[in-house]
Amino acid sequence: MKSLSLLLLLPLLLILASPSHVSAKHPRRALALGGWKAIKNISDPQVQELGEYAIAEHNKAAKPELVFGKVVKGETQVVSGVNYRLVVEAKDAGGATGEYEAVVWEKTWEGFKQLISFKPVKN
Ligand SMILES: *[C@@H]1O[C@H](CO)[C@@H](O)[C@H](O)[C@H]1NC(C)=O
Repeated sequence: MKSLSLLLLLPLLLILASPSHVSAKHPRRALALGGWKAIKNISDPQVQELGEYAIAEHNKAAKPELVFGKVVKGETQVVSGVNYRLVVEAKDAGGATGEYEAVVWEKTWEGFKQLISFKPVKN
């Protein structure tokens, strides 16, 4: 009995786990979830703007505010759009420079972006 229900369950689980099931709503935009790739040119204005955006978004939700310095490194991941995982240098209210890890999700064709996570980098 037990092995029979497992045999019935397994194909169902495989169907649910397959990416095509998830992306069926937007077939044209469907992209496989990729691994993280290092950003080659960190001085790209688009990357720096995303870092500045991350600090601005963080400041909306949290006090004391941070002052954007620059993005020092980052990685991208293809999702429905692109995830940017950036290390951003910023000054806190006391004027101390620190590094923060920000994940920004961007869909350029929709002009959409969202701050997914933000946290200090522990050295
Ligand atoms: C990196 O981006 C900056 C700004 O767009 C550009 O001036 C520079 O030439 C780029 N460097 C490389 C190696 O592509």
